[in-house]
Amino acid sequence: MKNKVKKSILGVKPYIPGKPIEDVKREFGLKSVIKLASNENPYGPSPKVLKAIALQSKSLNRYPDGGCFCLREALSKKLNVDPGQLVFGNGSDEVIVFAARAFLKEGDEVVVAYPSFLIYEIASSIEGAKVNAIPLKDFRYDLKGMIAAVNDRTKIIFLGNPDNPSGQYFTQKDMEFLLGSIRKDILVFIDEAYFEYVDEKDYVDSIGLIKKYKNVVVTRTFSKMYGLAGIRIGFGIADLEIIDLLNRVREPFNVNSIAQAAALACLNDQAYYKKIKKELFVQRKYLYNTLCKLNLDFQETCTNFILINVKSDSSKVTNDLMKKGVIIRNMDVWGMKGYIRVTIGTEKENTRFLKALESVI
Ligand SMILES: Cc1ncc(COP(=O)(O)O)c(C=O)c1O
Repeated sequence: MKNKVKKSILGVKPYIPGKPIEDVKREFGLKSVIKLASNENPYGPSPKVLKAIALQSKSLNRYPDGGCFCLREALSKKLNVDPGQLVFGNGSDEVIVFAARAFLKEGDEVVVAYPSFLIYEIASSIEGAKVNAIPLKDFRYDLKGMIAAVNDRTKIIFLGNPDNPSGQYFTQKDMEFLLGSIRKDILVFIDEAYFEYVDEKDYVDSIGLIKKYKNVVVTRTFSKMYGLAGIRIGFGIADLEIIDLLNRVREPFNVNSIAQAAALACLNDQAYYKKIKKELFVQRKYLYNTLCKLNLDFQETCTNFILINVKSDSSKVTNDLMKKGVIIRNMDVWGMKGYIRVTIGTEKENTRFLKALESVI
């Protein structure tokens, strides 16, 4: 069958997600396993969101609203953009796929950082585009290097802000510099999956950028801070023309009705998420302090995950932790030798991780 498919997909390396808890329990015969591997919210969505989900589940026989009317209205008010400037996806991953599907064909090129979130590369490769991956410099995007990699065939630049796995962010100045240095017909895709965690004062005002630059798309998600990773909903914000183009490659009922109701309820319960953010900052400090005591280097992060140099074989450390029921991510496979990425969990989970780490390094 291989000669029957699109040639471009043969070179695609499938994305390998963090191992599910149940798999690890089965594989190692463990009763209790914690997962700190996919940057999820360890507390789950708010009780009000769970109520909204229960209520919406009574209408499961009906197709969802393909236009996400109620959520669109609420978000457009919150973000102060036109309702038509929003596109919804089955996770923000899907909006990355829309951009690749709508803009890329064989012979086109994209620019990404390396390592960065792998879906940029996978979605682009599927469409047959060449991926120019510019290595990080000291864990930060090499913006000058990325600009230098732009050529006549470049269609999209993908930027994680904050980025995964580095946990670093762009400032307003960085983004203005990039946007002022490239052609206006290159789509600048700013992935803000971790937006809600960022407190840094000089973090870019991406909604402001969209008003100024017609070639910018910003994506956000309900999977991370809002704790809805399991029901998949994210969205993109851009100029009306770009959103119209992205909507053309979207399936009519791509976002399910439960996800729409849950996302709307999240927006209406900001107090719950404020508490979660506060606790995250406490736990982040706890992890930093203990990692220092363990004499391990790490990247300070503006997100809910930390990149840690375990100063040894990170693949072995990852496996040894898994045997102890702690799932984290080995960054060796993302080209960061000796590094692991750990999601900040609850206090109990973090303590268990730190104890397990100390015993395996
Ligand atoms: C940088 C980045 N973008 C996007 C996503 C995907 O999020 P979603 O669940 O909305 O598809 C992730 C998930 O890990 C991520 O780390």
